Amino acid sequence: MNTEDVIQATADHVRGLLAGEATGHDWWHIYRVWQNALRIGDREGADLFVVQMAALLHDVDDWKFAGGDEKASGRAARVWMSEQGVSEPLVEQIVQIIDHVSFKGAGVETPMTTIEGCAVQDADRLDALGAIGIARAFAYGARKGNPLFDPDIPVQLHGTFDEYKQSSGTTVNHFYEKLLLLKGRMLTQTGRELAEARHRFMEEYLERFMDEWIGKL
Ligand code: ADP
Ligand code: NI
Repeated sequence: MNTEDVIQATADHVRGLLAGEATGHDWWHIYRVWQNALRIGDREGADLFVVQMAALLHDVDDWKFAGGDEKASGRAARVWMSEQGVSEPLVEQIVQIIDHVSFKGAGVETPMTTIEGCAVQDADRLDALGAIGIARAFAYGARKGNPLFDPDIPVQLHGTFDEYKQSSGTTVNHFYEKLLLLKGRMLTQTGRELAEARHRFMEEYLERFMDEWIGKL
């Protein structure tokens, strides 16, 4: 197996599957996660083949679109990697990361045991923050059929993955239920540094949103 060739073939494969996706889980999300995971993984001394493969394959057949099955991405990744001749121990490491990368609710722990997994999870979460994170949240909220905001719908800090999966709140609530919590859950030093400015920007955005909502601006 030539690792460069497998990475390139995987990028082409994922690009083909996700090009044009409209809820922020498109190829360019994968591309940004791939590049940021590489950057973080490099600084943290991670195995960059494992990092890149997990980043590229983490949202193929994501549970949000696979009928809520959180193992679907890992399964799809395993099939693809076996076809590419990736060795079984590497496949296991990569699938383990994909199975644990997703946010599963404010009160649900999602442990990452390897530095490669930490790099991918931080990169994925960075893309849920800042200007891009705001755009993705409203795109995905629309797909779920959620209102932008409704002062009568309370924020819910979900204690289990099932509650989180089935919830139907508002997109502004999603900032309090997930996005503003991510800065405190970054796993690497580089991830924490990169999350800082993106977090502040979301806070400013929400402040303006509320000011406009109440007619103050
Ligand atoms: P994760 O699996 O950790 O949630 P993904 O890369 O699959 O990460 O993408 C999650 C994206 O979907 C984020 O940008 C997030 O804000 C958005 N998202 C998830 N649930 C909601 C929701 N209920 N309302 C708005 N956006 C959401
Ligand atoms: Ni993702």
